[in-house]
Amino acid sequence: MDIADTALTPLQNPDDAIARARRQTLLTPRFYTTDFKAFDRLDLSSVQAEWDAVMAEYEGDNNHDHFQRDEAFAQEIRELPPALHQEFLDFLVSSLTSEFSGCVLYNEIRQQIEHPEVKQLMAYMARDESRHAGFLNKALKDYGLGVDLGALKRTKAYTFFKPKYIFYATYLSEKIGYARYITIFRQLERHPERRFHPIFRWFERWCNDEFRHGESFALIMRANPGLLQGGNRWWIRFFLLAVFATMYVRDHTRPEMHQAMGLDPSAYGFEVFRITSEISRQVFPLSLDIDHPAFRRGLDALCAWSRRMDAAKARGGLIGRLQQAWCGAGAALCFARLYLLPVKNHELPAQVHIAPAY
Ligand SMILES: [Fe+2]
Ligand SMILES: [Fe+2]
Repeated sequence: MDIADTALTPLQNPDDAIARARRQTLLTPRFYTTDFKAFDRLDLSSVQAEWDAVMAEYEGDNNHDHFQRDEAFAQEIRELPPALHQEFLDFLVSSLTSEFSGCVLYNEIRQQIEHPEVKQLMAYMARDESRHAGFLNKALKDYGLGVDLGALKRTKAYTFFKPKYIFYATYLSEKIGYARYITIFRQLERHPERRFHPIFRWFERWCNDEFRHGESFALIMRANPGLLQGGNRWWIRFFLLAVFATMYVRDHTRPEMHQAMGLDPSAYGFEVFRITSEISRQVFPLSLDIDHPAFRRGLDALCAWSRRMDAAKARGGLIGRLQQAWCGAGAALCFARLYLLPVKNHELPAQVHIAPAY
């Protein structure tokens, strides 16, 4: 498997777009399947009051009218410089793939389980993700690159994750998704002249959906505290680092987009880590020490390995393959060093549910 997703050919037609969405690397969004039976055994009684409050929010559906374009949308679409254009298209395809990944997974869980409360939750979350994916796909269609989502669902590879990995990974991807969208939204709120596409105006209310999805997974994990203790602490460390590192390396492959928004990819990454770490104190008994100097050094080293890997792939042949193996080993060692850095431990708060306050 590739570690990187850079050095790609330009996206020019729907076939290119679906091929990009199907791409399977360590950095591209995946589709998941799991052991559905385990969901029927979830006991939510210890968080019932907070659960009911979040479910009432889903039912109220305050974003039901949000994912529709306003009159200004079309006028705000402008021609972008070629490098920015391609990075933005790649961003749209990768965002679409991860939104649709949630939609497919939540729908599948809903269909396969009996647990009435979790079933209802999955229906609400699939509803939201389907709106998100649809809105992104519409933006791709403006460029003639709409993805056939039915075909993507049938043909993309699925990764099996145990339910507990689904909880850790999905919780984090919802919360980091919130942190990413809100950080971009706030930046462009301060600098509207840097908003190169109208879709960013939708991010504030959009990311509140993601925040709420994360709340639901936080409640599920807090109601089943075995998921947050003992050897599982090592899994939490692993998923925190994997999610942070993937985002950091991938964002560093989109320099034009960050420059256009006036964001330094490293500073942006660390702001997103700070928000995500603060939020995740509601459920995880530990967080990564993102201020440790070796943490930043390690992430920058991972970016360098990813660039070397791209160069090795472009070179090809026997030497290229040997170089790729060398880069893979270097990146793995670098990841292991990051994994073993000291973490910050903390007590869990009595109340789980928090508000999106960033
Ligand atoms: Fe979403
Ligand atoms: Fe979500």
